[in-house]
Amino acid sequence: MHYTDHIIGKPMDRLECLFCARKYPLNVFEVFCPCCHEPMLISSTPRKRSIALDRSLSLEKYQSFLPLAHVDRTLSLGEGDTPLLLLDRVRRKHHLPPVYAKNETVNPTQSFKDRGTAVAVQKAVALGIKSIGTVSTGNMAGSTAAYGARAGLKTVVLLKEDMPSDKIRAAGIYGPILLKVRGDYGELFAASLDIGRKQGIYFMNSIDPLRIEGYKVIGYEIFQQLGGRVPRYLFVPVSSGGHLIGLLRAFLNLREEGLTADLPALVGVQAKGCSPVARAFAGGKARYSRFRQAETVAHAISNPAPPGGNLVLKLVRENSGMVMAVTDTEIVAAQRELAELEGIFADPASATVLAALIKFSRRQRLGLRDEVVLVITGSGLKSMDTVERLDISVRQTSLSRLEKTLRLIGV
Ligand SMILES: Cc1ncc(COP(=O)(O)O)c(C=O)c1O
Ligand SMILES: [Zn+2]
Repeated sequence: MHYTDHIIGKPMDRLECLFCARKYPLNVFEVFCPCCHEPMLISSTPRKRSIALDRSLSLEKYQSFLPLAHVDRTLSLGEGDTPLLLLDRVRRKHHLPPVYAKNETVNPTQSFKDRGTAVAVQKAVALGIKSIGTVSTGNMAGSTAAYGARAGLKTVVLLKEDMPSDKIRAAGIYGPILLKVRGDYGELFAASLDIGRKQGIYFMNSIDPLRIEGYKVIGYEIFQQLGGRVPRYLFVPVSSGGHLIGLLRAFLNLREEGLTADLPALVGVQAKGCSPVARAFAGGKARYSRFRQAETVAHAISNPAPPGGNLVLKLVRENSGMVMAVTDTEIVAAQRELAELEGIFADPASATVLAALIKFSRRQRLGLRDEVVLVITGSGLKSMDTVERLDISVRQTSLSRLEKTLRLIGV
């Protein structure tokens, strides 16, 4: 049997390539344009879409914006409905307009990846697919393994050869097939899709079109939480680009529905030590080139050849956005500030967004009405290596001197 023949979505779901405008029936095994080799996105036939806030699951509330005919509640792990937190101390310290954090660290596996996995797994089950997989260095592995377990699907996680064992355990606990693969990581991405096609394993990788549909829900929630407004700026970390693309599509959808006239300016953020998309943006290029010698503390977004990089460049240019880079020193300082001033423990990859906002506000005067939302994509608990390097002082005392010591410290 050839899997690509029978596993297609509903007739109204199609995949489209934004580079050549060709459309194809949805096939989860064929997600790159055969002509342009760029990632394709879901293009749904126009239908009446509306927000159903009275429903309990986040996927149900925004179901009419998603390519899901039905939401199977048993597959959910309670993803979404994450808080939008005003960062007032950070705002005052840096003389910023109102700044909010969309805190995606509170998702079931501590990152925004659950939003995408939730939708892709809903579709996988609806299509009768029995095996799923992913190629990941961290958050996506844990997320895919957890949702795979929840749905009772066979789950394959392909890992980089040098992946540290504590990260592997965070995915391994869910019982997937874990496979470390020697060889180039970029080639592994392409090889996984090829093997998936042959063996019927749906590899829901970083730039998968259904995953991207799930990321849209973060955008709808921000709109709702701001009382039906869009922020002026939306800062998001960029690796493969799937997350940024999903967020932008969310606001485009809201505009199509007449729910807003405005779009936020998307600011994609990369770590300077691995910033192929930011470099191409700064150089006015339409295509990025592979980044040599990638090195940054923001491991989760260290991707020297991101598969959605060209699409990100195209979309941010067409929609008045930008892509910028921040240094490791700026990232580590921002991570500490988010924790100390606001109580949010962000992964270094997510802390890039605060570092970028501080940098941006020094270049560009921001007015009081320029509301900013930072998406905090993942929890710092998954990247303790950077925290171990921080100077976090621990004092010592004895039980008999405890009271005196606290008085001396000035508590
Ligand atoms: C914490 C975190 N933030 C951001 C990203 C970037 O997402 P994308 O690959 O969709 O650009 C990732 C991706 O791995 C991540 O783990
Ligand atoms: Zn194309």
